Amino acid sequence: MKFGHFDDQNREYVITQPDTPLPWINYLGCQEYFGIISNTAGGYSFYRDARLRRLTRYRYNNAPWDCGGRYIYLRDEASGSFWSPSWQPTRHAAEDYSCRHGMGYTTIGSTFAGIEAHTRYFVPLDENLEIWRLTVTNRRTTRAKISVFASVEFCLWDAQDDATNFQRNYNIGEVEVVDGVIYHKTEYRERRDHYAFFACSEPAVAFDTSRDAFLGPYRGWDNPAAVAAGKLTNSVAHGWAPIGAHQVKLDLDAGESRQIVFILGYQENPKDKKFDPPNSQTINKERAKPVIAKYLGAREADAAFDRLHAHWEKLLGIFQVDTPDVHTNRMVNIWNAYQCMATFNMSRSASSFESGIGRGLGFRDSNQDLLGFVHMVPARARERILDLASTQLESGGAYHQYQPLTKRGNNDIGGGFNDDPHWLILGVAAYLKETGDWSILDEKAPYDNKPGTEEPLYEHLHRSFQYTLERLGQHGLPLIGRADWNDCLNLNCFSDTPGNSFQTTTNKDGKVAESVFIAGLFVHASRELAEIAGRRGKKEDSTCFLTAADRMEEAIKQHGWDGEWFLRAYDSFGEKVGSKECEEGRIFIESNGFCVLAGIGLDDGRAQKALNSVREHLATKHGLVVHQPAYTRYYLHLGEISSYPPGYKENAGVFCHVNPWVMIAETRLGHGDEAYDYYLRINPSAREEISEVHRCEPYVYAQMIAGKDAPTHGEAKNSWLTGTAAWNYYAIAQWILGVRPTYDGLEIAPVIPSSWPGFTATRIFRGVTYKIAVERKGAGNKVALTVDGAPIEGNIVSAPADGRKEVSIAAVLS
Ligand code: GLC
Ligand code: GLC
Repeated sequence: MKFGHFDDQNREYVITQPDTPLPWINYLGCQEYFGIISNTAGGYSFYRDARLRRLTRYRYNNAPWDCGGRYIYLRDEASGSFWSPSWQPTRHAAEDYSCRHGMGYTTIGSTFAGIEAHTRYFVPLDENLEIWRLTVTNRRTTRAKISVFASVEFCLWDAQDDATNFQRNYNIGEVEVVDGVIYHKTEYRERRDHYAFFACSEPAVAFDTSRDAFLGPYRGWDNPAAVAAGKLTNSVAHGWAPIGAHQVKLDLDAGESRQIVFILGYQENPKDKKFDPPNSQTINKERAKPVIAKYLGAREADAAFDRLHAHWEKLLGIFQVDTPDVHTNRMVNIWNAYQCMATFNMSRSASSFESGIGRGLGFRDSNQDLLGFVHMVPARARERILDLASTQLESGGAYHQYQPLTKRGNNDIGGGFNDDPHWLILGVAAYLKETGDWSILDEKAPYDNKPGTEEPLYEHLHRSFQYTLERLGQHGLPLIGRADWNDCLNLNCFSDTPGNSFQTTTNKDGKVAESVFIAGLFVHASRELAEIAGRRGKKEDSTCFLTAADRMEEAIKQHGWDGEWFLRAYDSFGEKVGSKECEEGRIFIESNGFCVLAGIGLDDGRAQKALNSVREHLATKHGLVVHQPAYTRYYLHLGEISSYPPGYKENAGVFCHVNPWVMIAETRLGHGDEAYDYYLRINPSAREEISEVHRCEPYVYAQMIAGKDAPTHGEAKNSWLTGTAAWNYYAIAQWILGVRPTYDGLEIAPVIPSSWPGFTATRIFRGVTYKIAVERKGAGNKVALTVDGAPIEGNIVSAPADGRKEVSIAAVLS
């Protein structure tokens, strides 16, 4: 069952039924001002940091779901009835409801009682504000008098405090209303230097800024008293809950259409220019006023929308494909790339499943996310890499996350995840291959943001490498620390106290438990690092990295192989995890996927065996599960992984993030059919038809799909902010379609399904546009390349020597 459809031409997903199984959201903003918006106008906005600079309130885990948003109400003055064109919050049975989620904007609307209304929400480039452009059309044959109400509920900035510290918060709310603009200025009189504003293009007949006045006692957003009465009360909030609400009156001829623009924005002032007049308590509005005036004009608002459109056109234009499969095309060309930009912007902070309070930017996560967005925003990828490196610890280890506003690491969800440092190497390698900008290795970055500790980025990578060598266990494999990629495989935690955080509690000294997954990651990262060192003329380093990688590969073969697959780990008693000897958790995806991805066992049949075992034990029609059998009870020595009910999350769920490791592994063995088969199983577009089972948005990946041990097998959770976005993009673009940036040029090495006659692609790489046509002439993956009509040796196309900006590549597979 579907709740809408794709409109690929317009790069939109069109939802035609408002009561989707879960709120289906989109993101507004791509620089500093952001919002999330659901298909029924739920969501919230923030400036840079969803925790520390929250503009509007949202109630997570509420009943009903998705409470708080950018709500517009229309009221028919004649009949007194009122409704929301976005369905929520009034939930009237409107006609022709549609929500179009597009690239950085969302348009929602419907028709009720002959009045059609649509609102387009977006954030203009280079501005810290959002525009709501409402179009109201009278579809009746008679005149209509309509009141329009637009409303937001302000958050008192720190979202965590806002949701908990009521004894203070009920007393601090403050606003100003000047020239029809509502200014939210809680805490501005004291230490804050920022405020929000909510403005309207039409002369408002009335406003409200007190939630109590607007809603009335014991009433909710579905039935505001002031809207029901048809008249806002001009309330001025003093403590309690400040809101912004405008009322505009429209008198529409039959067939007449009118537009109203609302603007919600954020503004900061220099500390010494906060007040006007100076020494008063009134906000100095000289910065906000011109911006408000500018965008309240419908023409400016439309021009800003066109610029946003062009921005996305350009970003997505960097890689476009035309394959025989619609799901591949639309994910690669539109939605998967778009999702990668969302993970770049949000990391794991704000979605329907991430509250904006709990997590900031993850060290491991953000480095992996680079794989998906580096080609679109190389300059910002560079900045991100240096920010990440600046939070690295002197030991080479890492905080697990840092706060985007302060760019400082924190211990909220721990440190000492021993895989963390290596992802920095992979992130930097991806950046170098894409851009050829070797200067980044000389950029100095501190450790733990401490002034005086600055070292070139290259040294940071060296420390990442060294970190593991200094932490080897009895089998010569890396000690796991708190956990590795699998945050929940907590082999040193031994927590028996309810409420203990698995992420920060540790009861063992960590000198025994080892991870085969980190071993595979180390081999891969160290070989990448050796290549980087070699190309920088650091021969000795390069040899040292290679030798260590070889030694680790030996250790894996000796102690990390279980006969039919790679082991997962050794626990803190030195016993095997992920072995045929185990009662539960006999085989895991991570070590098998990553070891083969790293090339381990390609030469001796182990890789093939491992992937056969993965297929036999872990494949389901909804994707590959993390391990089997699922853990059916809590194992003190395994930690959080066994805390989840079977089939959920890390306990044998389909963790979509790691499925691409197996896809890539399959391509390394030349298996295009298998790789593509796995690709399609979790491709959200390919799952659109079963939206009632999948339940999350059909246009973006989710972190997890319930595994076969769960009664809800096939149900997705935690959509949008997941490493799944980058890894799937990387797998399909670079390994299945095989269009791969390398240090020496663009490599063309497709490992596509045997049934495909070929495909075409356009890739802009280091300023040159490559038009690629792949044609299958035989069943294999052997590539013969012709570049601008002339055959070349090998399959790497180097930059044209004569500075041409467009190159045609014909690739024949046989
Ligand atoms: C979450 C985390 C990621 C981790 C994964 C597996 O997606 O963001 O860092 O690797 O879970 O535990
Ligand atoms: C929990 C989740 C895991 C996530 C981690 C982050 O362990 O299961 O997916 O990565 O929390 O804090």
